[in-house]
Amino acid sequence: MAIQRHAPRHAFVIFGASGDLASRKIFPALRDLAASSELPDQFVVVGVARTELDDAGFRRLVLDATGDEEERWSEMVAKFRYVAGDYGDDSTFARLCEVLNDLDEAQATGGNRVYYLATVPALFGPIATALARHGAARPTAGAHTAASGGEPFIRIVVEKPYGRDLAGAQALDRVMHAAFDESQIYRIDHYMGKETVQNLIALRFANAVFEPIWNRRYVDQVQVTVAESLGVEHRGGFYETAGALRDIVQNHVMQVVSLTLMEPPAASDAQSIRDEKVKLLRAIEVLTPDAVAGNVIRAQYSQGAIGSEPVCGYRSEPGVAPDSETETYVALRLSADNWRWAGVPIYVRTGKRLPKRLTEVALQFRGVPHLPFQGRLSRDLGPNVLVIQIQPDEGIMLSFGAKVPGPEFRVRSVSMDFSYKAAFNERPPDAYERLLLDAMVGDATLFIRTDEVDQAWRIVDPVLATFSDGSTSLHHYAAGAWGPHEANLLLERQGHRWRTP
Ligand code: BG6
Repeated sequence: MAIQRHAPRHAFVIFGASGDLASRKIFPALRDLAASSELPDQFVVVGVARTELDDAGFRRLVLDATGDEEERWSEMVAKFRYVAGDYGDDSTFARLCEVLNDLDEAQATGGNRVYYLATVPALFGPIATALARHGAARPTAGAHTAASGGEPFIRIVVEKPYGRDLAGAQALDRVMHAAFDESQIYRIDHYMGKETVQNLIALRFANAVFEPIWNRRYVDQVQVTVAESLGVEHRGGFYETAGALRDIVQNHVMQVVSLTLMEPPAASDAQSIRDEKVKLLRAIEVLTPDAVAGNVIRAQYSQGAIGSEPVCGYRSEPGVAPDSETETYVALRLSADNWRWAGVPIYVRTGKRLPKRLTEVALQFRGVPHLPFQGRLSRDLGPNVLVIQIQPDEGIMLSFGAKVPGPEFRVRSVSMDFSYKAAFNERPPDAYERLLLDAMVGDATLFIRTDEVDQAWRIVDPVLATFSDGSTSLHHYAAGAWGPHEANLLLERQGHRWRTP
């Protein structure tokens, strides 16, 4: 998968180009791709947005977001174009098409296009439809000749959230598929661009030692934690319409769970890997409304402190209703009903304003059949746990029992640590950098296929329904705590405990 590749010539069109995502993620990722010589000379960005700007204003906006120290990048930015206009107005798209055709002549972009939808989700469908109406969605055979000699390509990258529920995602898909072929659609989940998420595949399938024990016979439970110490920042308005389940579980958590638990793929191409991921998601049991009560905890942070800094409660955040019922934390007990995982609880938790930023997957193994060191001798011995830390300190840890030096046969848990930073002395590409390049070269492996989106919503939908009809109560936790007390009870009832990272 991770082959060294260079983007072919093309025009990269960003819808929502004056927005926050473009400045924070997309422009810096493009700058880094330019700096590592991944972008060809015949590469031009076209920004589209409602904000009134001209080409010069857009170029300034880009350089403000990225800096202008890199000479190659500044030279590229000098060619960038901008189309200001309303997305509901056909003339916006007519002008965009004119600019793109000009660029095919003037900058030899060869009719190749990557569209990036960085707008609010409500505009994804209308933009795709308008592009199709203007003949700018599907490659037309023979209309242009790409440098490679092949047909020109047209791809569309779509940000999350992809729908608000299963019905919404399917409705969006119908609109997208009327304009673009599924093979042209690249649904982004930036977690898939993280090196350590991809390393789950390497760890599992490039090593002989883990696979034999990667199943219900040896694994007692799986815990996935996506913890953030940040609150909702300036995104209160958006977050009110999302909540933790939609914002993190439906997408990032489901991606991590599927890579961790899927069957070995036959190859590392887009179809093989995504086939296995979707099979795993299909095996995840859908919770009935009654089952939600015993398997899901939702909560919201109240006033508290992160480290020594006092922070306000969610309801006092800007853009948030003072009586908001939106959850900022959710914990779930899931299960995958298949041959490999039947009966193994998959505990998932995510929250904002938890004590620290941490994403990890932990596989806790069953105990030995008989422990010869009893009582005091094994008081400090815990189970074997394999932890894949996705961020911030990317690495893998295995805890195991070792003899404590001394005359007694005392054993306690110790940890064998692998650190990415120490092992590889190079900067891993940022998730967006990796994913943008993949979209440019046409590798869809790390993007979310239509059936994956559906399966993830299928799991989340019934839980969401109990949130909106008020049947799952909302608990509270002080900012800076590891979630509400009820989340501990969820595991304690099974004789389990959350890991304390
Ligand atoms: C985004 C969510 O998808 O992921 C945010 O919308 C969240 O609410 C972010 O903060 C977390 O991403 P990362 O890469 O910092 O773990």
